[in-house]
Amino acid sequence: MKKITIAIDGFSSTGKSTLAKQIAKQLGYIYVDTGAMYRAVTYFAMRNNFVSENHLDADGLIENLSNITLQFHFNEEVGFAEMYLNNENVEIAIRTIEVSRLVSKIAEISEVRAKLVEQQQQMGKNKGIVMDGRDIGTVVFPNADLKLFMTASPETKAQRRFDELIEKGQQVTFEEVLQNVQERDYIDTHREDSPLVKAEDAIEIDNSHLSKKEQYELVMELVNEEL
Ligand code: C5P
Repeated sequence: MKKITIAIDGFSSTGKSTLAKQIAKQLGYIYVDTGAMYRAVTYFAMRNNFVSENHLDADGLIENLSNITLQFHFNEEVGFAEMYLNNENVEIAIRTIEVSRLVSKIAEISEVRAKLVEQQQQMGKNKGIVMDGRDIGTVVFPNADLKLFMTASPETKAQRRFDELIEKGQQVTFEEVLQNVQERDYIDTHREDSPLVKAEDAIEIDNSHLSKKEQYELVMELVNEEL
């Protein structure tokens, strides 16, 4: 059967990863959450004092990029691949609000992007992949068979992220989350290298008023047209 490449880009907390996981599972494809890779590099930078709320040592981090190994390992129990940084499972550590506050600063560094994009292209070279992020349809796989661009209202996005964090037992306020989602979207769309933009041939989906099921069915129709 024909294998395709599916690129899903869009703003923070628009449900990209939930959708991507569902599609990958249905098709038996690999799913790659590229945000997890930027988060893992950020976590490495935090632990090694290259970044904090009010300082960034980009050169120090760049010099140490060769000491960062990122891998995904599938966890049967949870049903998806978890992020490993230098052989340590960091899946929980990279989802905190502290990492969310710093990740867009790290994602602006071109050398970081080059390293991660190369690894992402390797992972997708045999197709049969669903990848989500900010630059997948524009930079990582400009020839992807299907490109989706996800949007939602700021309140919808913040509410989703807030519910997710609370469910994970984190102590956050709705305002804090709303501010973070808006700040990240601003930095991601305004950075010089690979800003978040809709690829010309991407299909835009505003899911503010779509249930997960409706969205999944809509997207599976688009997928089936490509198969
Ligand atoms: O997808 P997630 O919200 O976990 O991504 C975290 C951050 O990583 C984004 O806000 C963005 O700054 C960065 N990112 C990126 N390019 C990607 C994926 C994520 O710059 N392809």
